[in-house]
Amino acid sequence: MTGDGTRCVHGGHGGHVVGEPVHPGPVLSATFHLGGPDDPPPADFYGRAGNPTWRALENAIGELDGGECVLFASGMAAIAAVLRLAGRDGALVLPSDGYYLARSLAHGELAPLGVDVREVPTVGEWPAGVLDGAALVLLETPSNPGLDVADIAVAAAAAHAAGALLAVDNTTATPLGQQPLALGADLAVASDTKALAGHGDVVLGHVSVRDPALAERLREARARGGAVPGPMEAWLAHRGLGTLDLRLTRQAANAAAVATAIASHPVVSDVRWPGLPHDPAHAVAARQMRRWNGVLRFTLPCEAAVGQFLAASRLVTSATSFGGLRSSADRRERWGDDVAPGLVRFSAGCEDEQDLVADVLAALDAVGT
Ligand SMILES: Cc1ncc(COP(=O)(O)O)c(C=O)c1O
Repeated sequence: MTGDGTRCVHGGHGGHVVGEPVHPGPVLSATFHLGGPDDPPPADFYGRAGNPTWRALENAIGELDGGECVLFASGMAAIAAVLRLAGRDGALVLPSDGYYLARSLAHGELAPLGVDVREVPTVGEWPAGVLDGAALVLLETPSNPGLDVADIAVAAAAAHAAGALLAVDNTTATPLGQQPLALGADLAVASDTKALAGHGDVVLGHVSVRDPALAERLREARARGGAVPGPMEAWLAHRGLGTLDLRLTRQAANAAAVATAIASHPVVSDVRWPGLPHDPAHAVAARQMRRWNGVLRFTLPCEAAVGQFLAASRLVTSATSFGGLRSSADRRERWGDDVAPGLVRFSAGCEDEQDLVADVLAALDAVGT
């Protein structure tokens, strides 16, 4: 198998056909030539059902995930398709400390239709019987914003023993950082809005699976549901994917440097980054992850302290996303996460390490002054 950089650069790009563009543009057409009335429909016939620009990116991501990729209009559209499909077959078991909209969708939309929705923590004991009658277990690892890590192989064995599928939200890790399908999961879902597309200018998501029948059901659900990705978004994400290996390397190095530098600062507590050797998640993360990423978290004394930190920083943007070129920070309690008011999810960007560390330390020095 070729390396991460090579697969990111070349994945999904066609053969070297003389006269064809080396960098094809997005196919924006909503409709495609059908031929005669009795001819079988071609691969592309209508933009809600299929599109060659989607397929190019699906081939690239599928190769990285080790499965068949189905693109969705956002990470939430991908998660919603999975929960809606599985919710017809039994109970849904979701992380109690993962991305809040997955829980909100399950409790707000699916539970009123009669779907049994249960929650388990990313780390720690699961309640006895929680998997009885389950159709799907969703893990999020590393979790968001806690940066806890669940053991995917252990969860897969437990889910399968109960007759359930295991889905893993792989957004934080990216397909380069972790391969849930190889670790036993049935579905890898992700928000590609984050590091995969990587430039903060695209909203997109995907699901990858090994079972072709499940991939087909997901494609049907996508066409039926109708909230499909735009070809321009898929094209931009494919362009972004080309540099994922490079960006991840820089982001992980910056995250390591920031996490180490801030750990002893007097206003900072509870720094978590799975790549730190003493992090509580390090052992399991090192076992199942291929490489680290740029997302960490730390806690400042209060909400006002986060405001002072952000106001004093020249490089860290106050923004609620992660995995982009620019370093950013998000006070998660504002979105309803059950965390301390001063908890900050920090996304290390691609700035120079010494510039970023100096900026973050200077901004922390301004807290409380
Ligand atoms: C872990 C995780 N999963 C899913 C989502 C939803 O993705 P999107 O915003 O692309 O719908 C997010 C968004 O922040 C996320 O952080």
